[in-house]
Amino acid sequence: MKEKLQAIQEEALKKISESKDLDKLYEIKVDILGKKGRLTEVLKGMKDVAPEDRPKVGQMVNDTRKEIEDKMEEMRVKLQDKVLEEKMKNEVIDVTLPANKNKIGHKHPNTLALEELERIFTGMGYEVVEGPEIEFDYYNFEALNIPENHPAKDEQDTFYIDRNIVLRTQTSSVQARVMENTQPPIRIISPGRVFRSDAVDATHSPSFHQVEGLAIDKNINFADLKGTLAEFAKELFGEDTQIKFRPHHFPFTEPSAEMDVSCFKCGGKGCRFCKGEGWIEILGCGMVHPNVLKMSGIDPEKYQGFAFGVGLERIALLKYEIDDMRLLYENDDRFLKQF
Ligand code: DAH
Repeated sequence: MKEKLQAIQEEALKKISESKDLDKLYEIKVDILGKKGRLTEVLKGMKDVAPEDRPKVGQMVNDTRKEIEDKMEEMRVKLQDKVLEEKMKNEVIDVTLPANKNKIGHKHPNTLALEELERIFTGMGYEVVEGPEIEFDYYNFEALNIPENHPAKDEQDTFYIDRNIVLRTQTSSVQARVMENTQPPIRIISPGRVFRSDAVDATHSPSFHQVEGLAIDKNINFADLKGTLAEFAKELFGEDTQIKFRPHHFPFTEPSAEMDVSCFKCGGKGCRFCKGEGWIEILGCGMVHPNVLKMSGIDPEKYQGFAFGVGLERIALLKYEIDDMRLLYENDDRFLKQF
């Protein structure tokens, strides 16, 4: 009996110490200590042992069992630690690996064009001022020398909220707002969204953006306007850019003009880009009408000024050579990321 137990114990301890994983250990447990296990078989043989020897033999079986169980538990802890260690090793984060790049947004061509305009004009001492998109009819029309029945209002008649409130049709609406509250010298640009009752096509949208400019001071004349806008055109389109003024009419300026720049693509020879003209129209401008100054509390005998208004999309389309304005509003990532 004793030899048998000893043999089982020796074999068990050997197998346990050689087991490589928890599954194997469990197999050994079943094989030795399980219901039909080898040690259990020995216990079953107790009936053949002489009664006076039974306590002694029983003790021996129990000792063997304890020995095996202890060893098994020791091994179980060891193997479990090994599993954990392995897992930690496999799941370790290598902080030196390059991270997955997050897809981040991209500046819209309008934003890029606006930043460029702001850079140029703030560089010349202009301040950036914003006005409301939902505007009083007064600021959008009346204060700009466009009285109620003026035909110019017809062209821009647009989305009225009520009789006195309108979605602004031009950023010129900011002019009077600024002049009412500020005595000259004034030098501002005012970017923002405007609204017109236009149908969508490659060059029109019912909602687009403008940048208004206004300078009021003593002794300002048309030469100042020309000089300022010439500098602007050169900064925006290149040093060789020429400018040309064509007489025009705006109710809030007198005289008024539209300004063209020489085509920066062909240098003025005429190409597909400038439709063979050599020139590209980019803005409206003029000397601020004395009525406009007066209405906003500025004495036209003492002060003069010039104003201009440019379409932001127009600048963006030209600068980035985009031939359809609708692309600017679709927010297609594949389009936007090119700029
Ligand atoms: N507000 C005009 C428009 O929407 C653009 C404009 C023309 C603005 C002449 C001006 C200006 O300040 O002097 O077409």
